[in-house]
Amino acid sequence: MSAIRFDQVSLQFAGMSRPSVDRCSCEVASGRLVVILGPSGCGKTTLLKMVNRLYEPTSGRIYIDNQEIRQLKVTALRQQIGYVIQQSGLFPHMTVAQNIAVVPKLLGWERPRIQARIDELLALVDLPPSEYRHRYPAQLSGGQQQRVGLARALAGDPQVMLMDEPFGAIDAITRSSLQDEILRLQRQLKKTILFVSHDVEEALRLADYLLIMQQGQIVQYDKPFNVLTRPTNDFVNNLVGADDMVRQLGLLRVETAMMQANSPSSLAQGEPTIDRYDSLRHALSLILKTRASSLTVLDNGTPVGELTLDHIRNSASLTAS
Ligand SMILES: Nc1ncnc2c1ncn2[C@@H]1O[C@H](COP(=O)(O)OP(=O)(O)O)[C@@H](O)[C@H]1O
Ligand SMILES: [Mg+2]
Repeated sequence: MSAIRFDQVSLQFAGMSRPSVDRCSCEVASGRLVVILGPSGCGKTTLLKMVNRLYEPTSGRIYIDNQEIRQLKVTALRQQIGYVIQQSGLFPHMTVAQNIAVVPKLLGWERPRIQARIDELLALVDLPPSEYRHRYPAQLSGGQQQRVGLARALAGDPQVMLMDEPFGAIDAITRSSLQDEILRLQRQLKKTILFVSHDVEEALRLADYLLIMQQGQIVQYDKPFNVLTRPTNDFVNNLVGADDMVRQLGLLRVETAMMQANSPSSLAQGEPTIDRYDSLRHALSLILKTRASSLTVLDNGTPVGELTLDHIRNSASLTAS
């Protein structure tokens, strides 16, 4: 549940000469992680803030599961939507546990249920509850604060998550581990996520779909592989660096190039294996190293497809053209 649909959505702020978001239409299927990518000032945050009605469109409509969000009470809408921003937005005078409890309290949960939820969420974002429950935000690193921000946003089990450059202020190494965390959580929880980024590597790494914006408009909305191999214009081409093949193989997941198996039994036995979320560059080096003619692609240990050198070569030649 919780598909999001934008229908010709525009927002022109008072006194501005042109709209910040300009006739945006697209559909985000339920359970998908869409990264909104584009340069600073292109309208990413403005688009996002219309989904939880921090801003109202000047024209157009937004639907969640075919319900126009204007028809909902703002509080009811926001309870269904987790929101994570760059500066975690934690309340400094509240402990980690109190911060996470904000929404469950609003929802009127009983105390034991809230306590259990706090511990469950802290464990989920990899912060041992006994160690972190009673700390204050100032006693956490930036990366830990973002983890708590994420836990807080997940507290009421919202089906939709809005994340606005949540890792923008975090150092590269911590950032990469937080990205891993998001991918892991997404596989486990299957939320519908709109994730804003201006970082191409991050976007390619996380996205099921990329939504690329330029001056308030959506210029491409497609799978990362298609954006890299068939950018709609020079702007997209330059933005995602569609000419750098080696880099791309490092960013594209195995699943984007593999051949899906009709049934697990149709796969050859004894081949080396690779995870569907691994990079094509990793797959290539495995093929070269083992001299195998193909790799069996696994999802959680179960074979789901096959990847050959030709598959990789096809994606590489596509990206190079
Ligand atoms: N509250 C506001 N009032 C007036 N102009 C705004 C407001 N918020 C954003 N803008 C303008 O809208 C455009 C898009 O901003 P924003 O959505 O924040 O971009 P991004 O998140 O992609 O960096 C910018 O030109 C910005 O100056
Ligand atoms: Mg922004």
